[in-house]
Formats: sequence, C-alpha cells, structure tokens
Amino acid sequence: MEQLQSSFCFIFFTFTFLFSLFSFSLFILRLKPCCSCDVCTAFLSRSWSPEFVNLSDWYTHLLRKSPTGTIHIHVLNNIITANPENVEYMIKTNFDNYPKGKAFSTILGDLLGKGIFNVDGKCWRFQRKMASLELGSLSIRSHALNVVVDEIESRLIPFFSVAADKGEALDLQDVFKRFSFDSICKFSFGLDPGSLKPELPVSELESAFDRSSMLCAERAMATTPLVWKFKRFFNLGSEKKLKESIRVVKRMADEVIKKRRQSGFSKTNDLLSRFMGSISDDDYLRDIVISFLLAGRDTVASALTTFFLLLSQNPKVLQKIREESGRVIGDDPTQDPAGDPTREKLPAFGDLRHLHYLKAALHESMRLYPPVQFDSKFAKQDDVLPDGTFVRRNSRVTYHPYAMGRMERIWGSDPLEFKPERWIRDGVFMPESAYKYPVYQGGVRVCLGKEMSLMEMKIASLSLIRRFDVQVVNPDRILRFSPGLTANVSGGMPAVVVRRRELPE
Ligand code: HEM
Repeated sequence: MEQLQSSFCFIFFTFTFLFSLFSFSLFILRLKPCCSCDVCTAFLSRSWSPEFVNLSDWYTHLLRKSPTGTIHIHVLNNIITANPENVEYMIKTNFDNYPKGKAFSTILGDLLGKGIFNVDGKCWRFQRKMASLELGSLSIRSHALNVVVDEIESRLIPFFSVAADKGEALDLQDVFKRFSFDSICKFSFGLDPGSLKPELPVSELESAFDRSSMLCAERAMATTPLVWKFKRFFNLGSEKKLKESIRVVKRMADEVIKKRRQSGFSKTNDLLSRFMGSISDDDYLRDIVISFLLAGRDTVASALTTFFLLLSQNPKVLQKIREESGRVIGDDPTQDPAGDPTREKLPAFGDLRHLHYLKAALHESMRLYPPVQFDSKFAKQDDVLPDGTFVRRNSRVTYHPYAMGRMERIWGSDPLEFKPERWIRDGVFMPESAYKYPVYQGGVRVCLGKEMSLMEMKIASLSLIRRFDVQVVNPDRILRFSPGLTANVSGGMPAVVVRRRELPE
C-alpha cells in the first residue's frame, strides 16, 4: 500500500512538474524573448536611449516611420498603434475583443481591486452606469465646482501670492499635485487631506499613493511578470514596498468609509456617500473610490503642469488667453461680482462656456503632453486591425496618444507647434475626433471625468493667469518622464511667480 502511495506521489509530482515546465516554455516562446529583429534588439539593449530621452519618444519615432502607423515589439508581445482607424476599431467598433484583460487587472489588482479602472464585463458595466448617472447629475457637478473653487480661493491663490512675495521658485508639478489631490479627495470622500496648506505637509496617504502608482507602473514595464510575481510571493524588495504602500492607502480609505457609515451619509454630496446608497460591501466601495482618486489626481496635475510650461514658451498664447478672459469676465481679477471684498473674482461656471480660446489651448496642450501617454488592452480572440496588422489572441495592443499628437499624418506639417488656433473655427472651439485625439480615451470607455477635469483646469489656470506671471525656469529643456501610470516630469517643474496686480488688503 505504502509503495503504491509513493508511486502515485511520484507520478503526480512528475506530471505537475513537466506540465508546469511545458506551460512556462509556451509562455516564454510566446513572449519571443530571443527575437532578433532590429526593434526588439534595440528595445532589449536600450540602444535607443542615447538618441531619445523617453521610451515614448523612441516609439513616436518608430510609429512615424511605419507606413501603417503601427509597430510590434515582439519581446513584449505588444502591438503599438498611432493609427486613428485602429484606435476607433479597438475602443469602439470591436470593443468586446479588447478588454483590459487579466494581465492588466493582475498588475493593478492589488491596488485597485474591483474598481472601475481595473475590471471588465458585468462588474465594469454596473460601475460605469452608476458613476455616469452620478457624475452627470447637476448636484454632483455643483458640488465639484464648489470643491474646486474653495481649494483655489483658500489655498492655490494664497500659495502663489506668498511665492510671489518671497520671490522664491516653486515646483508647479508638486503644487498642482497637491491641489488636485485635495480636490479629488474632497470630491470623492468628503475628506480634506490639506496637502496644499501653506506648510506643504507630507501626507501619508499621498506618499503611499504615489509609491503604489509608481511601483505598479514598474510591474507593467517588465518584459515578464514572473519576476514581480516571484518577489510578491516572497514579499521581497519593490513588492514589499508596494504591499506596505497599498496597505496605507486601503487603511485610510477604510477609515473614511467607516466614519461615513457611523455619521450617516444621506445628507452629504460627495461621491462616496452617493455610492453608499446602492452598495453595502465596504471593500467594493473602497476599490471604487481608490479608482477615482487615481483617475482624478495625477491626470489633472500633469495637464496643468505642462500647460504652464507651454505658456512660458508661448507668451503670445498667454496674451490671447488674458484678452479673451478680459472680454468675457472683465479685466479686474480681484473684483467679486457680488461685491464681497473678502472674496476674489473667479470665473463663474457660465463664463467657462464662452472661453473658447482657453479651451482650445488646454486641448492643444494635452495633444502634445497627454496625461495618459499610452493605454493597453489585451485581445480576447485572433483579429485583424483595419490597417491589416494581425493580432494574435492574448496579445497586448496599445494605442499611443503621445505619439499620435506628434504625427504629421494626423495633424499636418507642424505637429510639434503649440497652436490653439487649430481647434478654433470662426471663433468657436471645434472638438476633434476622439480616435485622432484619444487623450480621454473615447468610444465605449471614454473618461467619465472629462467635463469635470476641464472645468477644474479652466478655473485653476485662469485664476492664476489673471493674477500672476508664472515663468517656468529653463522652459526649453527636454522633458524626461519618470515611470508612473500618468505622465510625471522627472525633477518637477520649477517656476518663478510674479504678482501682476496688487490685491486689496
Ligand atoms: C486631464 C484629466 C483627465 C484625463 C486626461 C483623463 C483620461 C482618461 C483616460 C485616458 C481614461 C481611460 C483609461 C483606461 O481605461 O485605461 C480615463 C478613464 C476614466 N476617467 Fe479620466 N481623465 C482625466 C480626469 C478624470 C477625472 C477628474 C475623473 C473623476 C472625477 C476621471 C474619471 C475617470 C473614470 C471613472 C474612468 C474610467 C472609465 C471606464 O473605465 O469606464 N477622469 N480617463
């Protein structure tokens, strides 16, 4: 009997071992780690790096050269496209074949759980429906406006005023991250982390969030997930740090949810309270809210940072924005329309609709510096893209807004010029196709915070532009982006601020 048992064990373990080895070899073969084509060799040896500062710049160069606007990095099993027809096909026409997929949800699963960013199918559809109803409602929009206006009046403008008085440089990227973090936390949780208070406190939640986002992005850049999975299993190195950071984010989110349950949620207007009406599972609620923090924080900060860089490089555009705002809102930024001397005049919600040039300038800025530089999906079945590219099942397919904004075949002969005029016809802002300009994605999974983010960026940028001259230090330097889920300028964006008009005491 004993002999039978040990023979059985031997057969079982040998079979399991051989089967695992076979699956692993298949997996490795599919990755083609030994591909010797020029592109893969350059990718693996990083021989592109002396010529291009960022991987995205090298991809842009390859995509520009490709007749179809599509390339294949075999060692990553990744098809990258800057072809608007392919983009439309992936995110609209054949949307069902291009989900985020298991590979993506595994990379972000520890941080985002079942939050909207990280799920497909029924779970996504449920959250999408609920979130679009909430974000479309008038009361949540006016809540968002109040949150943003309060943050600008009480923190952003005073912060810039102090910087102007002291004459010291500030880091625009850091300030905008703090501004958008406070705003999205108040909007989503009804919680004020106070990260843009004058003393610029170090927020445990913010640092943990930054670290988690960076470490998850590093997972996504690895040629094989086996390494990080191994490190996660044994709780080593970067995976140990990631686990600790995620624990902080989740603990804080749990605390907020618990407090909100205790204090009652029906009278408050933030997103969490609204979701609480339909969801009783607190883990699920936490995942949803963390997705919103990720969606709304770094994207807005990244867009505002590069917007001010481009304005420093293009003073004529800045001048036109000021002229337009003078025509629409009036010239004095300090006069409150209701005559309240303690309040400064901010653009009202109704005014924003008439600021066509400002809207064009923001869109133009995100064309050159999209906050989400690329976005990947995983093919469910074999397929052929409209440009004839064959897509094998389980391949990663990435569309690349950063490269697309720099393509002559999409934007004409001057794609690298910052020209808001390309968005204006007869004085009116004209949107472009979302497949040519997928900065907010587009199609079935288009960003749900698009209008809110535009409102936030218009009010924040205009409030500063009307009061201050903000000059980025060394504006013509080449930008290097650090790894992260959203574009983050390495070394920040130092700028000098000078007050344009004296504000009343
Ligand atoms: C400049 C600002 C923003 C940009 C450029 C932007 C861009 C994007 C992009 C590219 C996606 C698709 C991501 C993917 O599926 O992989 C997305 C999705 C999303 N965004 Fe935004 N976003 C911005 C601001 C916001 C804000 C402020 C919010 C929240 C209030 C928000 C909420 C969302 C949500 C909930 C989704 C998921 C939609 C879905 O999967 O159905 N976004 N955004």
